[in-house]
Amino acid sequence: MDTLQALTERRTIRLFQPRPVADADLGAILNAARMTSCASNQQPLRYIVVRTAPLLNRVLAETAWARLVAPQRTPVPGKTAPAAFIAVIAPADAKPITYADAGAAIQSMQTAAWALGLGCCWLGAIQRENLHQALNLATDRQVLFLLALGYPAEQPVSEDVAGNASVAYYIDGANRLHVPKIRLEDLVDWR
Ligand SMILES: Cc1cc2nc3c(=O)[nH]c(=O)nc-3n(C[C@H](O)[C@H](O)[C@H](O)COP(=O)(O)O)c2cc1C
Repeated sequence: MDTLQALTERRTIRLFQPRPVADADLGAILNAARMTSCASNQQPLRYIVVRTAPLLNRVLAETAWARLVAPQRTPVPGKTAPAAFIAVIAPADAKPITYADAGAAIQSMQTAAWALGLGCCWLGAIQRENLHQALNLATDRQVLFLLALGYPAEQPVSEDVAGNASVAYYIDGANRLHVPKIRLEDLVDWR
């Protein structure tokens, strides 16, 4: 798969096969994050990989999944749950630029995962205080985001829409998730 294909064809996955992800693949994904651009090359982010029970279930309990397509795209423990989570950890006093670092690193991980045949869901709707406890973090650390990973058990599709159309994602009669993306001509002003 070439890079442009991975960047454009990747879709968020919220339902996963009950199948583990090899540590070597998780390592390759984390290495993509490690090599990502970050402000002043300061590298403030750290990562915790969760891929064993019971911590996996404890972390899952602190997540929230696309309300618009609930409950169909809310993973069920033991059935459609992610095989792993990567917690993106930052200093407790992280500045806005660190959130930019995290975004870049997470997008790298999503792209790398997709290229390896894996699906991801970037999770911002998380119970950060509970996760801080569950992951036994020091007080000077915080969880910025989670990335859920696993082999996809759904095949979402994107569709181009006008800039003034609804961008609400939805599930069709065949239980397929559709993700509207605003067409390029309505996003870009060429000068
Ligand atoms: C910063 C950020 C936070 C997100 N948080 C959640 C979340 O908490 N739960 C969820 O189900 N999806 C979450 N998503 C996934 C988005 O819903 C998804 O990226 C969006 O619907 C577009 O779909 P696509 O990734 O397939 O292009 C998040 C994405 C981003 C970038």
